[in-house]
Amino acid sequence: MPTTRHASAGILADQNAAKREEIVGLLTRAYWMEMETVMSYLAQSAYLDGIRAEEIAEALDQDVEEELGHARRFAGRIKDLYGTPPGTFDMVHEQASLQPGDPTDVVGVIRGVIEAEAGAIEHYNRIIEACDGVDWATQDMVIDILRDEEGHLRQFERYLREFE
Ligand SMILES: [Fe+2]
Ligand SMILES: [Fe+2]
Repeated sequence: MPTTRHASAGILADQNAAKREEIVGLLTRAYWMEMETVMSYLAQSAYLDGIRAEEIAEALDQDVEEELGHARRFAGRIKDLYGTPPGTFDMVHEQASLQPGDPTDVVGVIRGVIEAEAGAIEHYNRIIEACDGVDWATQDMVIDILRDEEGHLRQFERYLREFE
């Protein structure tokens, strides 16, 4: 931990140390959600098979880059808040519905993606609320990322409607 802190206001100020710790915890969870999403989308985009799957695989492949970008932003913000981005030994796994199974089960994958995106949206709303009044920069960043996840959710909701 650094020994010199200079900010007199905002989330870097000493009087907000407890809040800062809370936000770093929330950001760490967000970081894992993004990293797991990168791995799930990467695996599914490679594994999905069949004519019906092609477009979904392509969309997921593009999303890998975007989700990795989110993870990068969360890691950077954790560092800026005097935190430490976690190492792989602390990795969290939650995406049961995105484990590769039947490569032609496109609808199953679409549902898994919707579940992951909805989970991210829920968690990011929580972070945005936790930041209110004390950490505007994290709030601004997470609002930006939330917009992406809402876009992803809507995209896959439209796919689902088409496939059902
Ligand atoms: Fe993301
Ligand atoms: Fe997403």
